Amino acid sequence: MPDLEAFIRGLPKAELHLHIEGSLEPEQMFEFARRNGIELPFADVEAVRAAYAFSNLQDFLDIYYQGARVLLTERDFHDLALAYFRRVAEDGATHAEIFFDPQTHTERGVAFATVAEGLLAAMEEARTTLGVTSKLILCFLRHLSEEAAFETLNQARPYLDRIAGVGLDSSELGHPPSKFARVFAAAREQGLKLVAHAGEEGPPEYVREALDLLRVDRIDHGNRSLEDADLVKRLVAEAVPLTVCPLSNLKLCVVDELPSHPLKRMLRLGLKATINSDDPAYFGGYLAENWISTAHALGLTRDELVTLARNSFTGSFLTPGEIESRLVEVDLYAAAHAPA
Ligand code: HPA
Ligand code: ZN
Repeated sequence: MPDLEAFIRGLPKAELHLHIEGSLEPEQMFEFARRNGIELPFADVEAVRAAYAFSNLQDFLDIYYQGARVLLTERDFHDLALAYFRRVAEDGATHAEIFFDPQTHTERGVAFATVAEGLLAAMEEARTTLGVTSKLILCFLRHLSEEAAFETLNQARPYLDRIAGVGLDSSELGHPPSKFARVFAAAREQGLKLVAHAGEEGPPEYVREALDLLRVDRIDHGNRSLEDADLVKRLVAEAVPLTVCPLSNLKLCVVDELPSHPLKRMLRLGLKATINSDDPAYFGGYLAENWISTAHALGLTRDELVTLARNSFTGSFLTPGEIESRLVEVDLYAAAHAPA
């Protein structure tokens, strides 16, 4: 159905769940390794791609952290992010809120400033040359201690006027949101927005903890919320955005096959779901690919697609005025492309 694909590509939309380190393509991995004099444990790009067969989140994380070792200089972080913005601009995104994992880099001796300056420069370039606005979200690695998260928040201090919020990622099981209640409270006091991965592999209780103990503005993934009817009611009543990642869910075996993905069910329940790519270089598709595959697999209607586009802006950290104007763009596009 090329009509549907063209409609999706042109639909103004935002990406709200994207790990910038997860946009590192194998070709780029080799290029950065070469220019930084780093040995890779892979013979070529095909060998890297062949290694991308995961049976759970941890399988993926092991290889994702290994890949990030090629990122050393401000230029690397800039080039990585700019390549992502170019891709997502082609997918019809006009706004992106991107995660970065500073601890993955500072633990290897790369300064926080190197990472932040490179990413912020690419964000500015994306705005001026591509017309894509963006926000930066600092993620704490949940397999590390809360003390290490506090140290990272401290390192971020000179950049807090250019960082929109903090998040929580990495190995979910065994690392509940409660472990980070104090550092999230400190981030909230600094005026930062709050998000957390919850309910990707972890139980509904982790989603509740993210809401009650971390007081997050959005839930990243949130799939397992559906196991708890009271929790669903609450997420609907409070209009909590869920940043859902269909191709990621497929690759990490959170769902068995795309036709059984819960996204359509989430929309029918009234949940504020959005479609996102998570780690597109590892999971086989950027933003539009996630939308198109999901639309085909679940038979999403045009109204559902427009709702998803609206959710991507109402769930964003743009100001209320900015959200209003982005919604006008969505509605104008939908009206101009209404079926005959
Ligand atoms: N889940 C948790 N941590 C992550 C992910 C994810 O999907 N991607 C990158 N870090
Ligand atoms: Zn994620």
